[in-house]
Amino acid sequence: MKIGNLDIENKLFLAPMAEVTDSSFRKIAKEFGAGITFTQMVSAQGVINNNFETLRLLSFSRDEKPIGVQILGNEPDVLGDAVKEIVKLKPDLIDLNCGCPVDKVVTNNMGSALLDDPKTMGKLIRKMVDSSGGVPISVKLRLGKDKGNINIFETARVAEENGASVLFVHARTRADKYESDPDWHWLKKVKENAGIPVVGNGSIFTPQDAKEMIDLTGCDSVMVARGALGNPFIFDRFNKLISTGSDPGQSNADIIRDTLLKQISYMEREFGEPNSIDKAKKNSIWYFRFYPGIDQFLEKVFSLNNLFSIRSLIEEHTQNILNGNLKVTELSEINIKFKKKVLFWLADESVESLG
Ligand SMILES: Cc1cc2nc3c(=O)[nH]c(=O)nc-3n(C[C@H](O)[C@H](O)[C@H](O)COP(=O)(O)O)c2cc1C
Repeated sequence: MKIGNLDIENKLFLAPMAEVTDSSFRKIAKEFGAGITFTQMVSAQGVINNNFETLRLLSFSRDEKPIGVQILGNEPDVLGDAVKEIVKLKPDLIDLNCGCPVDKVVTNNMGSALLDDPKTMGKLIRKMVDSSGGVPISVKLRLGKDKGNINIFETARVAEENGASVLFVHARTRADKYESDPDWHWLKKVKENAGIPVVGNGSIFTPQDAKEMIDLTGCDSVMVARGALGNPFIFDRFNKLISTGSDPGQSNADIIRDTLLKQISYMEREFGEPNSIDKAKKNSIWYFRFYPGIDQFLEKVFSLNNLFSIRSLIEEHTQNILNGNLKVTELSEINIKFKKKVLFWLADESVESLG
């Protein structure tokens, strides 16, 4: 898929996720063949205020490219100035978040609140494009405010007319948050009407889902969020499914262990040990969630308080899986727990300060 001068070969992208798509996970996703990855959303005001936490969240290394940086904002001049700062870091794409449904963001007229005001959205995009010195600007949209107010054709047209180079479309409304099934049919209609590339998003949990979304909607590429948690393997499996027609299937437990331990060492390097402990725990749960013994793993991991003991538990748990002596939890049960539980990390506190 071409975005400006950028040619992205692999069609499955890693979606931005607050508290998840840090550099450690982006690197791993890239190693497994993600087409492009994103920083989590950061506030444009925070960028121009030189807020330390904001700058840390949007920093990335050269080996992570191609990479998109995502910003939140609602004032043209603030977004323009933030874009001028961000282009100095040489990202491949700068995205305007028009999809976040979290209260703290919406009540500040940012994120998905912009869906209600396409005119302002257009002005913001225009300012970002005029300030970006040629770095492509994209927009991440939802279908509309709620099912009775779907305005994706209008917001997609406004984004394109104001110079956006690509549209990321999450096939849910703001009111849906993450709960109900997405409606992929809208993606097909948006793609048919758009003159710029369209990337579909919403409930891709397997490589087959990603292929089905492309086949059904004609989208140029697709983007996975929750389906990639602890599952960077989805990128490699999807790429192989497309290139050879067959999915190599779920990875062995020793690959899970090696990848997870590698991500934890990237994490430790990025954040230091104290700030990596909770991240290592939640990632470990995600990595092992579809494997036997997840219930026992959950019981043990929460009591640990240093990386050495987390690493040891990962080694021990992997060995137990390989020895075949752990109880298998029903997949549907894990999926229900997982879908509900993951979202507590999306609580308002996990959204970076908006100033
Ligand atoms: C933990 C979490 C954090 C998220 N953070 C962001 C974010 O920072 N920016 C954004 O545009 N979307 C964010 N999203 C939304 C995802 O990018 C994606 O649009 C949504 O989860 C739908 O994709 P999925 O059904 O594959 O999960 C987040 C989602 C989750 C689950």
